[in-house]
Amino acid sequence: MEIKEINIIDAGKYVDKKVKIGVWLTDRRSSGKIIFLQLRDGTAFFQGVVVKGTVSDEIFEQARSLKQESSFYVIGEIHEDKRSHFGYEIAITDLKVVGDSNDYPITPKEHGVDFLLDHRHLWLRSSHQFAILKIRNEITKAIYDFFYDREFTKIDPPILTGSAPEGTTELFHIDYFDHDAYLSQSGQLYMEAGAMAFKKVFSFGPTFRAEKSKTRRHLTEFWMIEPEMAFMHQEESLKIQEDLISYLLKRVLENCAYELHLLDRDPAILEKASQTPFPRMTYDDAIKTLQKANFAISWGDDLGSPEETYLSEQFDQPIFILNYPKSTKPFYMLSHPKRNDVYICADLLAPEGYGEIMGGSEREADYEKLKDNIKQAGLDITAYEWYLDLRKFGSVPHSGFGLGLERFITWVCKLDHLRTTIPFPRLINRLQP
Ligand code: 4AD
Ligand code: MG
Repeated sequence: MEIKEINIIDAGKYVDKKVKIGVWLTDRRSSGKIIFLQLRDGTAFFQGVVVKGTVSDEIFEQARSLKQESSFYVIGEIHEDKRSHFGYEIAITDLKVVGDSNDYPITPKEHGVDFLLDHRHLWLRSSHQFAILKIRNEITKAIYDFFYDREFTKIDPPILTGSAPEGTTELFHIDYFDHDAYLSQSGQLYMEAGAMAFKKVFSFGPTFRAEKSKTRRHLTEFWMIEPEMAFMHQEESLKIQEDLISYLLKRVLENCAYELHLLDRDPAILEKASQTPFPRMTYDDAIKTLQKANFAISWGDDLGSPEETYLSEQFDQPIFILNYPKSTKPFYMLSHPKRNDVYICADLLAPEGYGEIMGGSEREADYEKLKDNIKQAGLDITAYEWYLDLRKFGSVPHSGFGLGLERFITWVCKLDHLRTTIPFPRLINRLQP
């Protein structure tokens, strides 16, 4: 009879059955007559046990000399293993080596993060990295579900662009035949065009910022989700934003319990954070709160990392900071109807000190006002003529936002740096592997 080939993650369905699994070795211990093989197959991690006398002497010797990250098939019976969180192990009766592995550079001892990032192509195999990127995968899937369930159309903005939506300082310049071009730092302006054609749209793709600083919150290449909704004011957009974050957290809680355990992340904290509505605070009140806590900040200053960290430590849920001064935000935002000094906008700060994960606004829908804003920002009006067209032909109130995927995952996984939330991070000093 053919033995069924399974994935480790499905082991629970095959208790006391004989199965075959293609695996790699992560670690090995032996004590005389028994060898414990720590195995992974890309779906989960568990233990294989080889007992002398239950396998041929040749197989026992082979098992004893297996090297870290060698690949092989194991055949054996799945048993419950009450001592491990995973709950199952395999009692190996046969194994067949597929690929050798010698001097695997990432050993079970501690390595510095630079060494690990230099070996990112291999580091992806470790259980922590596995868990983070599996959670990323679940969030990605959930993002599509959220927007498609709500009749959004996915619009893909270009990556090669001729203008700068978020200011001109952080652009990657490239030679585009005999023109200047830039890698997209946000698809927003194109999404606004999309919203006027499809009402509710979203994008989900890579964006680029030539961030010169080394921080825990900045990649030079990161993935952003940018929804844009026509016939919609900021209030309704805020509701979508909190529903989105709450939904994504619930999906992780539902489908990533194993991964959260591998990361030692307490699900109760995410459960609490997923409760809506999220608290809100105006920028004005945020400044007062910070001043009371002895931050040297005055009205008109942008909130930096330490300030955001402080504010987001005060709450168990993400918090919206509303209506920032115009000097701190880009030209396309809608002016507050009763105040000339702030925009109708909001940033969402993740709790536990993680700071900004999402930012959005209602957009300036008036042709003349928008044109003025572009001029005042010192931008070349000719590059924005197509964007101004959107205000000439049936302009409507519209709102949108951008969620930074890696910032969000960093918080969900409670990491101290965002660089491991993307398979191959791009940082100021890192373009390899
Ligand atoms: O706040 P940002 O710059 O806003 C925009 O780009 C708007 N056009 C979005 C919109 O309204 N459609 O970026 C949005 C989010 C931030 O809140 C942050 O989570 C993430 O993108 N982000 C970064 N993530 C990683 N590395 C960087 N260098 C990032 N810069 C922004
Ligand atoms: Mg922002």
